[in-house]
Amino acid sequence: MAFSPAFLDELNQRNPIEDVVGAYVALTRKGSNLFGLCPFHGEKTASFSVKPEKGIYYCFGCHKGGGAVNFIMEIESLSYPDAVRFLAKRAGLEVPEDNRDNSQYKKKERLWALSRDAARFFNEQLRTPGAESVRAYIARRGLTKSTVTHFGLGYAPNTWNALMDAMIAKGYTKQELLEAGLVSKHREKGTLYDRFRNRLMFPIIDVRGNVIGFGGRVMDDSKPKYLNTDETIIFNKRRNLFAMNFAKKSKQGHIILTEGYMDAIALHQYGFDCAVASLGTSLTQEHADILSKYTDEVVLTYDGDQAGQNATKRAIPMLEKTGLKVKILQMKGAKDPDEFLHKFGADRFKLLLSGSENQAEYRLRSLEARFDLTIDEQKVEFAKQAAELISSYATAVEREIYGAKAAQAAGISSDVMKQQISRAYKQRMAAQKKAQEKKQLDVYAAHQPHNRQIRYDNMRSAIAEETVLKMLLRENALFETAKELKPQHFSVPMFAKAYETLRRHWAEDHNAGVAMLSEVLTQEEMAHMTAIIHKDDPPISQEAFADCLRVIMSEARKASGEGDLRSLQEAMRKKKGYGGT
Ligand code: CTP
Ligand code: MN
Repeated sequence: MAFSPAFLDELNQRNPIEDVVGAYVALTRKGSNLFGLCPFHGEKTASFSVKPEKGIYYCFGCHKGGGAVNFIMEIESLSYPDAVRFLAKRAGLEVPEDNRDNSQYKKKERLWALSRDAARFFNEQLRTPGAESVRAYIARRGLTKSTVTHFGLGYAPNTWNALMDAMIAKGYTKQELLEAGLVSKHREKGTLYDRFRNRLMFPIIDVRGNVIGFGGRVMDDSKPKYLNTDETIIFNKRRNLFAMNFAKKSKQGHIILTEGYMDAIALHQYGFDCAVASLGTSLTQEHADILSKYTDEVVLTYDGDQAGQNATKRAIPMLEKTGLKVKILQMKGAKDPDEFLHKFGADRFKLLLSGSENQAEYRLRSLEARFDLTIDEQKVEFAKQAAELISSYATAVEREIYGAKAAQAAGISSDVMKQQISRAYKQRMAAQKKAQEKKQLDVYAAHQPHNRQIRYDNMRSAIAEETVLKMLLRENALFETAKELKPQHFSVPMFAKAYETLRRHWAEDHNAGVAMLSEVLTQEEMAHMTAIIHKDDPPISQEAFADCLRVIMSEARKASGEGDLRSLQEAMRKKKGYGGT
């Protein structure tokens, strides 16, 4: 998503950095800067600084920094366009999007507002005389008042039109109610009626904090136990997870994935603020990808029954594919986390967590369970598959230990097993290397400038050059650090020109902005430069800057290899007197 510079300018002006940051961090003024405790890493002394006149923040401890948009991306865990929208909303600015998108986005905004109002309505119903049964149910399930408030739980009254009437009174249309999945149409009569009736309501909230749908539970044994919002333009089960809006901010270092709303809620109530639940569907690759953006480790706490075990097996490869570490938590004496917590308490659950059966053991054991190891042919097949499986384990120690276990189970020598594993491992590595190379090529292709007149011949250097220019424009003071970098080190001619010009401007009046490049760059080059600046990259650290400088200069050295050789020979000639050869 490219926003116009004018819009971004306005956005930044209307969102002073000290106000944006100030909503999250207590700041004290020191001279022209403000200081506070960094919200991104635990600390006791303030190393987090805000420079209002530049519109930037920087942490001297963890080296995070950037502008208002970067801050919101980081602290709210939002993508670049979502952070921009977040700030636009904060300042009451309209986001200019292309026309078709615009109307689609407007519609979504209406449905978000409607869903939020519906959630409020359901929540208010909890306090009405008619909600006695649901209040009793909530108490029976052990949910506290603050849990009910935290999750905005509610009650859909036992009528056909209470919600519809209330929302129409608020100015929403029947069409909007249908589109939000809150009312259904009678097949024959064509009349509309409330979809959720006499149910405990769970609002489903996306990572940006929008109410996008609902789950509704009956309070007895009638069927269906849960009714969920059908797919709508704002509600996609494959891409959202219940309680992710809370879990994304958790500091617990992992995300606990559960099967049920009640499980996730109970976990939060007992202090595990990193719990999420899938929305009545099995985990998708999209879920896995999203989880990998927010954490490095996922703990699976699916039910102990066959369905739960199958779900676990399906989930593991999807999660691992994204690089996530996966732990499997197996509960004894309770069928799900909700039951476990109410029965045994949080401390026992913590013990379970710390002893989470590791997936290496689990996977080998579940493979083993599929074979009858008293039969020779089955032993052979097991040994083959075990070798394949164990070859995927990340560390040599794991491959060694589980190799020995598998050998024992199959009744073969561990040397033979070792050979099998090592062969499978080599094949795996070769395949991985190939995939890696292909990925690298794709990255390079994606980085080629859109404009055909500008080519990147040395991609490694060009990417570093982009970054260096971007950072220099963002933080002119970095010219100080880049003293050794010369225009002739650049591999892309337009970057060399840009760098030369910016450096000159900086040397003259310590002020180098992108606007000054108009004088040396062509229209196409200028467009490319702006495109680079507006690319939604994460904030870049000082170290990354230094790395880029090293890359550019070493690539430049390689390119002028012959020249280097000549100067080396020269240097050696001079050194001869000292005994050099
Ligand atoms: N589910 C559903 N529709 C159903 C049953 C279940 O969408 N008819 C989904 C819900 O998201 C539910 C999850 O599957 O949270 C797990 O189902 P289950 O284990 O039966 O329910 P719990 O969440 O454990 O709820 P409770 O403890 O209240 O029975
Ligand atoms: Mn349950």
